[in-house]
Amino acid sequence: MSFAFRLRIAAAAAIIGTATLGTAFAQPDPAQIIRERREGLRAVGQHMEAIVAIVQSRGDARSAVPRVEAMQAFFTTFPGRFPANTQTGETRALPAIWTDAAGFTAAYNGAVAALGNLRTAAASGDVAALGQAAQATGATCGNCHRPYRAR
Ligand code: HEC
Repeated sequence: MSFAFRLRIAAAAAIIGTATLGTAFAQPDPAQIIRERREGLRAVGQHMEAIVAIVQSRGDARSAVPRVEAMQAFFTTFPGRFPANTQTGETRALPAIWTDAAGFTAAYNGAVAALGNLRTAAASGDVAALGQAAQATGATCGNCHRPYRAR
């Protein structure tokens, strides 16, 4: 559901004027937030796989730049995708995300830094450098998944 559409529903609920409806629609649906973050992460996984394929085929490192940028754009929005009401449901997010927010943030910062290096390596056109940076990036994904994502 688009943000604009959500806003329209909220407005409609306000016009109807029932407190219950107003409360239900004032916040984005937690199930929707979970779906969207999982879709985004799935796309991140696909970008990483495609970059590994570029490295393995000794392809054009520069062709990875748009994929890295798409991942960077997603991760810009990442911290906002874990409100407290998305701990349960169709999610593998572990409670440690909320009980150890500092650790989760540190893992996040590690991935963001690695993606910056990955962008630099891709733009350099050096496919060996891209391979090394992709490996380092992959390690930061694991650093978050091990403590904060259920198997
Ligand atoms: C700071 C933490 C963190 C970082 C960094 C991170 N992830 Fe994740 N990832 C998660 C969490 C939490 C989930 C589970 C989300 C859920 O189920 O709601 C997840 C889920 C996924 C999924 C499964 C999506 C689905 O279909 O449900 C994939 C694929 C994935 N991550 C790939 C990656 C890759 C690739 C990287 C590194 C480039 C990465 N992640 C970095 C925390 C992280």
